[in-house]
Amino acid sequence: MSQEISLKDLFLQVKNKNEYLKVCAPMVRYSRVQFRTLVKNYGVDLCFTPMILADSFCQNSKARYNEFLTTDTDSPLIVQFAANNANDFLDASKLVHPYANGVDLNCGCPQRWAMKDGYGCSLLSKPDIIQDLVLGVRNNLPSHFSVSVKIRILQDIKKTIELCHQLQSCGVDFITVHGRTPSQKSGEKVNVDALREVCASVQVPIIVNGGVKTLKDADDLYSAVKCNGVMAASGLLTNPALFDGSTKTPQTCIKLWMDLKNKSNDHITFQCYHHHLVFMLEKILTKPERQEFNCLSTFESVDEYLKMNILNDHTTPDYEHSLGNFIKCEFDEGITSQHGKKCRGCGKSTCYCICNRYDCDKTDGKYFSSFLEESDSLDYMETNMFAETL
Ligand SMILES: Cc1cc2nc3c(=O)[nH]c(=O)nc-3n(C[C@H](O)[C@H](O)[C@H](O)COP(=O)(O)O)c2cc1C
Repeated sequence: MSQEISLKDLFLQVKNKNEYLKVCAPMVRYSRVQFRTLVKNYGVDLCFTPMILADSFCQNSKARYNEFLTTDTDSPLIVQFAANNANDFLDASKLVHPYANGVDLNCGCPQRWAMKDGYGCSLLSKPDIIQDLVLGVRNNLPSHFSVSVKIRILQDIKKTIELCHQLQSCGVDFITVHGRTPSQKSGEKVNVDALREVCASVQVPIIVNGGVKTLKDADDLYSAVKCNGVMAASGLLTNPALFDGSTKTPQTCIKLWMDLKNKSNDHITFQCYHHHLVFMLEKILTKPERQEFNCLSTFESVDEYLKMNILNDHTTPDYEHSLGNFIKCEFDEGITSQHGKKCRGCGKSTCYCICNRYDCDKTDGKYFSSFLEESDSLDYMETNMFAETL
């Protein structure tokens, strides 16, 4: 793994070419290693993992293995954590440091549970806490290992710029700015003027995010705001070849996805494989076809459907970025042993157990995904495309 690539160099390389970095967003459940590998074949330069809860990651080995899977070609990679204290963020960062190019602090998650427990957007009003978290990593891990923060714009643009200046002065390598406020929904208009003002006022590289569905959207946003990188989330889900200029998922992309699944053995769940295809085929299938496809429940039936109905030929195309070998991550026990296994059903503020099912002994370690599934608001999954049939 080439984790020595520094993000500073990466930003410099694209700047010297008068280009911008094309970035795959952190996406809970979705920006996993197979998807990261897929999008790199279509112009993505930098990928983020899904948001991982730093405290669970430090405390529980099952959480570590469920939430973080990587390969020896999965680079450059930023691991995104949700954290609300410097100790958890630093220790989680130390644990992934051998396997990634940097860590990112989520300050943009608007979900109610996150706000209640001091994660995500709630940190936007506590810049001193963000500063503590960032400084902890900056002062304790090597300078080529990046530390960054993903924020949303605030109602008051001056406050957004003030926050970026604070982050800059505590040594962040870059900042990702989602051009919507915490109370805006994902379909709402992105505030391009605010993004432009932020980019013009801050010296560290800025990745802008929001509403990018095509390469033209990304190019236009870059021209309008003069940023260093453009990040896409939902647009990449529906068309992983977005940054390559395709307007809908090309057949080769579906073939690559099948091939990446075949090379993953038991490292990919059916749900992950199928959900991605549901997104990718959104613009290709008619509604009745989608209803049929969304009901499929085995790898075999999905592959058969694709071969019979979508693909013109069944050859696997050559591709540049392969999955590589899965890495058996060894996490420093000197660090993990300091984070006792805490009961998740105890009613403490960091407890994600909403029904006392995930006590220490019985837990499957999938705190975060289990929680999301039961969460009252899937703000990170605002599509209701699964509602019809799943
Ligand atoms: C399915 C899904 C999962 C997401 N998960 C995360 C996440 O883990 N961390 C994060 O910072 N943002 C997350 N987001 C927000 C995106 O990173 C991005 O900021 C937002 O969707 C706006 O970009 P878009 O308009 O290109 O979708 C998620 C978005 C989606 C659609």
